[in-house]
Amino acid sequence: MQRILILVAVLLLSAACAAAPQPEIHVIPRPVSVVPGDGTFRIGRGCKIGYDDPSLQSVAALCAGYLADAGVRKPVVTDKPVHKGIDLQLDGTFPDEEYTLSATPKGVLICGGSPRAVLYGVQTLRQMIGGGRVPVAEVRDKPFFGYRGAMFDVARYFYPVEDVKRFIDIMALHKLNTFHWHLTDDQGWRIEIKRYPELTRVGSVRKETLIGHYKTSDEYDGTPYGGYYTQDEIREVVAYAAERCIDVIPEIELPGHSMAALASYPWLGCTQGPYEVRTTWFYSSDVLCAGRETTFEFLENVLSEVLELFPSKYIHVGGDECPKVRWEKCPDCQRRMRQEGLKDENALQSYFVCRIEEWLHAHGREMIGWDELLEGGVTPSTIVMSWRGTEGGIKAAKSGNRVIMSPRFYFYLDYYQTSDPEKNGERLAIGRNVPIRKLYGYDPFDRLDEAQARNILGVQANLWTEYIATMDHAEYMLLPRLAAMSEVAWAPEGRDYDDFVRRLGTLRGLYDRAGYRYADFVFRGIE
Ligand code: ACM
Ligand code: ZN
Repeated sequence: MQRILILVAVLLLSAACAAAPQPEIHVIPRPVSVVPGDGTFRIGRGCKIGYDDPSLQSVAALCAGYLADAGVRKPVVTDKPVHKGIDLQLDGTFPDEEYTLSATPKGVLICGGSPRAVLYGVQTLRQMIGGGRVPVAEVRDKPFFGYRGAMFDVARYFYPVEDVKRFIDIMALHKLNTFHWHLTDDQGWRIEIKRYPELTRVGSVRKETLIGHYKTSDEYDGTPYGGYYTQDEIREVVAYAAERCIDVIPEIELPGHSMAALASYPWLGCTQGPYEVRTTWFYSSDVLCAGRETTFEFLENVLSEVLELFPSKYIHVGGDECPKVRWEKCPDCQRRMRQEGLKDENALQSYFVCRIEEWLHAHGREMIGWDELLEGGVTPSTIVMSWRGTEGGIKAAKSGNRVIMSPRFYFYLDYYQTSDPEKNGERLAIGRNVPIRKLYGYDPFDRLDEAQARNILGVQANLWTEYIATMDHAEYMLLPRLAAMSEVAWAPEGRDYDDFVRRLGTLRGLYDRAGYRYADFVFRGIE
């Protein structure tokens, strides 16, 4: 009788096991392939993480931190293969950013073409863990685009180093590889430049800030506002990003969006001032004088210090929204135009920016600028960041320039998230709206043939902060829309919005665990 009972119990148990559904594997961005198997690997207390190459040490350390966040007690990192645990390996036969992840009941093996690729495997693993288990599966993955960016505007509101690190952590979770740091603008200069101390003493502080929307309000808060990063802090952020396999591209705005610099050194402007750091949004008519040599001397000195701090291949010089009214009246600017045979002020802007590009090339770097640069003409080597729409980017790609697509009607995360912001309780934003579905549906290949499409380096989401003063709010605007951008960057072909939304549930769990704020409209079916 006892034997029969045991037999029945065993049969019932195995039936229950067979019936237990294999946890579904929901990963964003969608990997190239996920083949689920049977069973799970339990990540227990003291789980070992081994790596086979010294270059993977910091990836292994990050992996241990992520496991601890997921509730695994005391993960242990070792510089040897562990077999029963999590193994991280370099595989020289893989392209730079490609990885595979094999999960068996005994452990997980992540192989990648570089530490960066292995880290992407680790990020995938983070999304696969549920209840301390990893479902058995074979994952293959590589990103479609080489440039996968996010921009953070710290000029309109200043975000301390800890916030910037959080932004970088969020980028790493979404497998993005380029952090575009918007460091200077009309409303504040945020990077210490040793040779020009007034840039931070004067230029990092505005005397007050507009309350409400710039189109409808003339009310100010009467409170000085400021902040900047010391060079040590900049180095700290660049190193933090590098550990997470993210390059940092600084943006030093020129010739427009430069009121903070003009307020610091009025000789930089056509009218010589006086100027003040801008207290409302939008942009100023006063810009850097294109006629005087002292402007170029200043910029080259500033950029020399910037290059010391940022090892990135690319440097962003802005170039957007530069009114020409001062140049039209400035004798120095007009003389420059005559001397250089420039037909109008757009050509003067082109002269200005091309001169800086030449200087950057001489120092081993390449230049990115916003799509306004196309108005006066660009060199074949300029990388165009298309923001006013897709037209600039398409035009540039057709004429052979490299392009980063960040069209505002898809990738501006400072725009509202729903079609009825008031009804849906959204906080004041700059305007328009980019619901996550719209962002997800962006077609990076629109109107481009195959050869032209190869000029698209990638895509980028931009978080401007005129109406976003805190990190909580920044995260709410960023998430989960950044997840959609990341899928456009990694897997633009064969996208399926409903499937994306299903998978988003898993990422939401991670947001909750990490304590990231996010908008929940998509989970409530609100667009
Ligand atoms: C921009 O949004 N002015 C680049
Ligand atoms: Zn001038």
